[in-house]
Amino acid sequence: MWRFVTLVLLVHLEVSQTGAWRASQPRLQFTHSELVQNGRLLSLSLAAGDMHSLLPDEDGRRLYVAMKDNLLSTSLDDITQNPSKLYWPASPDRIQECLMAGKDPESECANFLRVLQPYNQTHLYVCGTGAFNPRCAFIATSVFLKSERHTLSFGQTECGKGKCPYDPHQKTATAIIDGELYAGISSDFMSRDSAFFRSLGSRHVVRTEQYDSTWLQDAQFVKVASMAETDNPEDDKVYVFFTERAQEAEGAAGKVLYSRVARVCKNDIGGQRSLVNKWSTFQKARMVCSVPGPDGIQTHFDQLQDIFILHDGKDKKNPLIYGLFTTSSDVLNGSAVCVYRMQDVVRVFKGNFYHKEGPEYKWAEFTGKVPYPRPGTCPSSTYGSYRSTREYPDDVIFFSRTHPLMQEAVMPLGGRPLLVRVGVHYKFSRLLVDRVEAVDGQYNVLFIGTDSGLVLKSIHLPKEHGVTQEVTLEQLQVFQNKSPVTTMTLSKRKQWLFVGSAEGVAQLGLFQCELYGQACTECCLARDPYCTWDGHACSPFVPIARRRNARQVGDEVDPLTQCVRQGAALQVEAEQRTMIVAEGNGTYMECLPKSRHAVVTWYKQAGENSAELHQVQSGEQLVVIERGVLIRRAETAHSGVYHCQLEEHGFRWTAVTVRLSVWSPYRALAWSTSNPNPSLDVSQPWYQDVMALIHPSRLQQHCQRLGFRQRRNRKPDQEQTKNPKTADGPRGERHKHEGGGGRGGGRKSRSKPQQRSPRST
Ligand SMILES: *[C@@H]1O[C@H](CO)[C@@H](O)[C@H](O)[C@H]1NC(C)=O
Ligand SMILES: *[C@@H]1O[C@H](CO)[C@@H](O)[C@H](O)[C@H]1NC(C)=O
Ligand SMILES: *[C@@H]1O[C@H](CO)[C@@H](O)[C@H](O)[C@H]1NC(C)=O
Repeated sequence: MWRFVTLVLLVHLEVSQTGAWRASQPRLQFTHSELVQNGRLLSLSLAAGDMHSLLPDEDGRRLYVAMKDNLLSTSLDDITQNPSKLYWPASPDRIQECLMAGKDPESECANFLRVLQPYNQTHLYVCGTGAFNPRCAFIATSVFLKSERHTLSFGQTECGKGKCPYDPHQKTATAIIDGELYAGISSDFMSRDSAFFRSLGSRHVVRTEQYDSTWLQDAQFVKVASMAETDNPEDDKVYVFFTERAQEAEGAAGKVLYSRVARVCKNDIGGQRSLVNKWSTFQKARMVCSVPGPDGIQTHFDQLQDIFILHDGKDKKNPLIYGLFTTSSDVLNGSAVCVYRMQDVVRVFKGNFYHKEGPEYKWAEFTGKVPYPRPGTCPSSTYGSYRSTREYPDDVIFFSRTHPLMQEAVMPLGGRPLLVRVGVHYKFSRLLVDRVEAVDGQYNVLFIGTDSGLVLKSIHLPKEHGVTQEVTLEQLQVFQNKSPVTTMTLSKRKQWLFVGSAEGVAQLGLFQCELYGQACTECCLARDPYCTWDGHACSPFVPIARRRNARQVGDEVDPLTQCVRQGAALQVEAEQRTMIVAEGNGTYMECLPKSRHAVVTWYKQAGENSAELHQVQSGEQLVVIERGVLIRRAETAHSGVYHCQLEEHGFRWTAVTVRLSVWSPYRALAWSTSNPNPSLDVSQPWYQDVMALIHPSRLQQHCQRLGFRQRRNRKPDQEQTKNPKTADGPRGERHKHEGGGGRGGGRKSRSKPQQRSPRST
């Protein structure tokens, strides 16, 4: 319960710090149809998708997709081009047995592909659950070249036990390393035996100790990765990341979940008398990702969802490990990203062992004598003369078997998450990081998939004291029906992000610079590391070799200095509007910035040609709301020139100028008959909502009397590109704001409101 309370407080905390709250709001939002219209998204819909993994082949320009009963191969350049399928069903006997065991025909008794790994230049290694009878196969990529549909027969497969789970719902992580398959799976029919296996090579299969809860307990595996520790390959280790029931934390309170990192030596072949064909170097440690509450109690994000390992160009041994976590409570949707340094992980494994003397004792640091060579050490010339783990002394093997857990936990960089989301209508599900060379240095751009079919794109800017500030650049709805993102991968070469869900696969451009606007200011304010002002337009940044004097991110506190240095015009052209309203009637002046980070302030000029501006304040007949200024009953005093001023990142500009004339009724009547195009577009549902608040019943009549024409489905650019002055006469531009207004082509699209979807919080 206390967790719930802390999270509630956390939400308040986030919302009350308005500045930070704005920054964590996505700056721009795009709906699925806008992404399609803009040409940024391609979709391949796949019925009964069950998308488990995507495997890009950059050289072969193919994308492989592991699905239910099918392995799909499609073009990496355009996923909609000639996808080709390999049909691989479970055997009919097995399906029968599976159904007899009371399993579900759709979601369990089929062949759910759960392992998809590149094996060599010509073959993939693929495994499926085979209706609770896992099978694996080497699949030649050449089968997809032929046009006819292929079927994989039972005879072409091999037993998948110890490689693939029985139950498709069990979380699984695998990797092929040096021709061997490392698999974190639950390896039995009942999913009681969660284990970490190595198989497939010429060596004997090695696994974790079976049914030993100090080793693994109900583990949900997330990622397997190989990592070098020294320059000697004999010291190489394989790491596995997972969430499991934490034996050391369980008590009267019941089940407690912790996220873990565990590792084994690549050259571990098990012990001689004990731990035969079991890992003899297995060690594990807790990974902490938490935030302090106001009362000092930490709120933990304990459910690991995804891991991304970001290798720095130079230091191969010390990558950054990005962990994506959620809270185990479903009451409040809490997600966080924590970053760990590899050296901190290694340090924890060199620290104290955790230990419990007997059933009556508490867990504590092991203070006795640790045998030599220290358990967890690989047999290598770096640390001694042992040639294999079978030569290790019995006391070392015994200690390894009884002490897999380290006392210390791995703490994230900076001691806290890089980013946190609570109280939103989604949880994070997948994470991918792209290291980008930008004009002002390197950025790590995060792409985060959610369980509501969104992809968020965010960066982090350094603030004082080593703290970073999150800026969410975009929120992109890649799946129309909001299906959870189950897998993501990147084509670095072609700058595409591939996203999978039950709806199918989506291919998304990482950026679309031209949408940011036509002024240098707008390009710079977007802060998108993929984009830069090239002197004429906002366009993709192409790094030219390696720059000397490459500046560090954050050197340039003000992104606009870039524009100043380039001598580019800072001025953003304001949209001009003229509006006429009959005295006593309501009207609405709208100003919706594309960027949700911009703060809107309305000013009114003291007179037609006056430079004096007064901030517009809400009064009895006039209300300043989030989307604009609402006038309930116009008075002649409301006439005048209004400016909608935006401020973002310290830069202010006028987005819209409205000349409002309030007409007395008899003159207005004369005007409305001679002019069939009044200045409001009542096709907008939100506008009707606003008006309904004032005139709940009379709205319809009111509009008809005014002779407002319903203007639906009109593209904002169509009329826009004609000369607005002559098209609309001196009464000026009309007020158009259909969705999808952000397309690059329209001359004035920048000041058009772009989004109508509600905010996510
Ligand atoms: C790749 O592996 C498969 C399966 O072991 C084998 O048949 C094939 O010859 C290998 N290809 C190459 C290029 O080594
Ligand atoms: C959590 O997210 C789900 C969708 O994933 C949503 O239906 C639910 O309302 C959210 N809960 C809260 C408390 O925001
Ligand atoms: C203004 O509102 C009144 C009362 O709702 C209505 O009778 C009148 O026709 C409206 N004026 C115009 C110019 O439509």
